[in-house]
Amino acid sequence: MAERLQAIRGMHDVLPERAPFWQHLEDHARAVVEGYGYREMRTPLLEPVELFKRSIGEVTDIVEKEMYAFEDRGGDRLALRPEGTASCVRAAIEHGLLDQPQRIWYRGPMFRRERPQRGRYRQFHQIGVEVFGLTGPDIDLEVIAMTRRLWQALGLTGLRLELNSLGDADERARYRSALVAHLRAHEAQLDADSRRRLDTNPLRVLDSKNPDLAEIIAAAPSLLDYLGEASRAHFEQLCAGLDAAGIGYSVNPRLVRGLDYYNRTVFEWITDALGAQGTVCAGGRYDGLVAQLGGRDTPAVGFALGVERLLDLIDTSTVETGPDAYLVALGDAAAAAAPAIAERLRDAVPGLKLVTHCGGGSFKSQFKKADKSGARLALILGDEELAGGTLGCKPLRGQGEQRALSFDELVTTLRDGPNIGVLRTDTASGRSG
Ligand code: HAM
Repeated sequence: MAERLQAIRGMHDVLPERAPFWQHLEDHARAVVEGYGYREMRTPLLEPVELFKRSIGEVTDIVEKEMYAFEDRGGDRLALRPEGTASCVRAAIEHGLLDQPQRIWYRGPMFRRERPQRGRYRQFHQIGVEVFGLTGPDIDLEVIAMTRRLWQALGLTGLRLELNSLGDADERARYRSALVAHLRAHEAQLDADSRRRLDTNPLRVLDSKNPDLAEIIAAAPSLLDYLGEASRAHFEQLCAGLDAAGIGYSVNPRLVRGLDYYNRTVFEWITDALGAQGTVCAGGRYDGLVAQLGGRDTPAVGFALGVERLLDLIDTSTVETGPDAYLVALGDAAAAAAPAIAERLRDAVPGLKLVTHCGGGSFKSQFKKADKSGARLALILGDEELAGGTLGCKPLRGQGEQRALSFDELVTTLRDGPNIGVLRTDTASGRSG
């Protein structure tokens, strides 16, 4: 037998059994972000490697160690995108979208060559939003409120919001000097990684998970003490807005994020239920990035959530995974008539998930397949039904007798199905989920 190939480590297939859970999350996320007027943008998975170096930062883990970067056959240096923000900024500049405010959302796979473990993958998926052209704390509040709305829609509890302000570039530079002075005073106790970061990216030392450094980090000066008046007012207004909206948060002055482009507001939604990989959503303001990538000075804010991590938290037991109905046909005449009847049903019930049995077989074997499909109802078409213009309808879950229904009665029954319900809300209100 030929050798079997396997998926790349840290990159996973989403099998049909689990796909409904992904769709459940994606449908809710889309309904929420579109409910705030965000419009979808899709960008390529490959970008010039330079884009990420110039945005995420040369001396970040992502760019230094984790990017899938390579030279293509034409000699171009490319990278599989490790995140979506840089691509959105590139596209917004390239297509001239920035002469007015933009609210954009995106979803899709991202790639980082990290050490795989639960909640940390080499191909993972994000759903994110980016807002361009709005500078006040009101839009920071909006993007955070949007995430809270999504957690509520998904029935998630136990997520906590951590918030910080990184100030502006000059405020951060002053803080950086104070931090370096503090860390230098304890240089002998620092680990190799932190000592290296001391020269390249000292704020990242605050992010160290090394318990031996906890005390030094706790005693470090606080970024919030270095904010100027405007940054402080921005942060205070955001906090007041969160209070007014009833969104709980805690200020974490050590929250610095692993990407270099942020200024002022940064935030993370964190759970204790996933061990070390507890950040399910993260973002903040990045007012300098558009100009840094060659666009005109444009303020920006956004976030991205980790789909796999959220799926680990969601109670999927109530998510419908099977079709609404499975049509079995007994005898040659019924088998010949079934496809046309199935098409009429699909016409009459938009959104209906109906599997038509193919491949013949005994009543028993067809029924077994109906059962295995996870359908709510088996629809039975035999000679008798064909003659009487009816279809047998038998619930496959829970109690319920088989009943003979006319086509119209069946349409009414099917319209009450859970899948149909979702789609009806969809068409009626522009929302799904
Ligand atoms: P990030 O913190 O690098 O931010 O990633 C955002 C989220 O993606 C994380 O909180 C986590 O849930 C998920 N994530 C990241 N890496 C992995 C991984 N290896 N495996 C599984 N999930 C992962 C950004 O990417 C920014 N672009 C967010 C942003 C948008 N800021 C402003 N706009």
